[in-house]
Amino acid sequence: MVSSMVTKVLFVCLGNICRSPAAENVMNYMVRESGEEARIQCDSAGTGDWHIGNSPDPRMQKALEGRGVPVTGAARQVKREDLEAFDYVLVMDKSNLVNVRRLDPSGEFHDKIQLFGEFCQQTPGAEVPDPYYGEEDGFELVMDMLEDGCSNLLSEIVESLDLEEV
Ligand code: 4NP
Repeated sequence: MVSSMVTKVLFVCLGNICRSPAAENVMNYMVRESGEEARIQCDSAGTGDWHIGNSPDPRMQKALEGRGVPVTGAARQVKREDLEAFDYVLVMDKSNLVNVRRLDPSGEFHDKIQLFGEFCQQTPGAEVPDPYYGEEDGFELVMDMLEDGCSNLLSEIVESLDLEEV
């Protein structure tokens, strides 16, 4: 799956203001902490276009800051070229999966489009629930899942990059 010396990861949700920018920021934080920033690059995007240009939702920012994760980012919409440019396209829920797969009607990129929950050891294969219309605890649950999944994702990527270098 990984075919160059830099691995590129795109996180996708609906609005690109809650779950996927949080995933991007958590992953970037872990990547920096492990000194892998030269080999792993992350971005995020939304299937919808309502929030283009917006910063992450203030409630999501608060949850990130509560766990010591610095917050950056402005929302953008996912596009077909992203499927070519990124090695992993990780979606937060099954509705995102349907919408991203619509950008790939031939199925050419099928294998790199995956549910983020596949990397969550605590909740294997689970959707990361949309916190937008819920309470504060929804944002904490998102953070729990992102920390779990991103740490496993990071291990997988580092392992395959190390193999590639041999
Ligand atoms: P996200 O959350 O997909 O995690 O960014 C949402 C943000 C905005 C909306 C829905 C979900 N919205 O309907 O505006």
